Amino acid sequence: MNAVARAWITAVRARQRARRMLGSAAAAAGAEPPRAELVRRLVPGRSFLDVGCMWSVDGAIAFAAEQAGARSVTGVDLMAPTAAFEAERARRGSAVRFVRGDIHDAGVVEEVGVHDVVWCSGVLYHAPNPLLTLARLRTLTTEQLVLATEVLPELPGLRGACVFYPGLDASGRRAFAGRRSGSERVALDTPFDAARGYENWWWGITPSALEGMLLASGFEALERVVSPFHATLVARPTR
Ligand SMILES: C[S@@+](CC[C@H](N)C(=O)[O-])C[C@H]1O[C@@H](n2cnc3c(N)ncnc32)[C@H](O)[C@@H]1O
Repeated sequence: MNAVARAWITAVRARQRARRMLGSAAAAAGAEPPRAELVRRLVPGRSFLDVGCMWSVDGAIAFAAEQAGARSVTGVDLMAPTAAFEAERARRGSAVRFVRGDIHDAGVVEEVGVHDVVWCSGVLYHAPNPLLTLARLRTLTTEQLVLATEVLPELPGLRGACVFYPGLDASGRRAFAGRRSGSERVALDTPFDAARGYENWWWGITPSALEGMLLASGFEALERVVSPFHATLVARPTR
């Protein structure tokens, strides 16, 4: 099975490289999630929440939302606010509110409160129970959810598939390890480590599985920007 997984991922990466080399407009458009455009379009006049607002971005999306005319802005994260976040908040004289805590914790959800637009990027595949995460996001969202996550390409002939990364052995992990710059992916580049909790990459979610999870959690996807290993969806609550 590891050989099948390696062949599948290798084929997808080869196609991706070929499209990039050919300079396909679609590939270029799909390469980068349209963050700035989404903030400009969805945020003005709305209350805005960024779930997982801190690591590597230091509240940048929250500040962008405030600048785009959000009525109020909250960021929530497990991490303490970084020095860069505090400095930027002071420099801007910003009213962005920060709540520290785990979004799965009902008390944190209550403290954060309901928002018109909820942004959640880079969190879902770090969650051992993504349906619980989506249930929390549903509680927090009244109008729109922007959900961005790393994904796996669709498995040929098998819609709705996910890979549970902690179940992979070293050979299985290698099948999913690609050329990457940047930070290590716990449970993919290194063995799964229960003690590192949400730092692990728990799930490789295909786009069709992601849509199914949204549906099961009371969301309907309205817009999708999907590249082989990343998806950004705009969804609205259905109930
Ligand atoms: C991979 S980073 C993504 C950062 C940023 N949103 C982005 O898209 O680049 C994940 C962020 O979510 C936070 N996070 C992960 N699980 C969380 C949870 N259960 N509750 C609150 N924050 C969480 C992490 O601390 C980290 O700041």
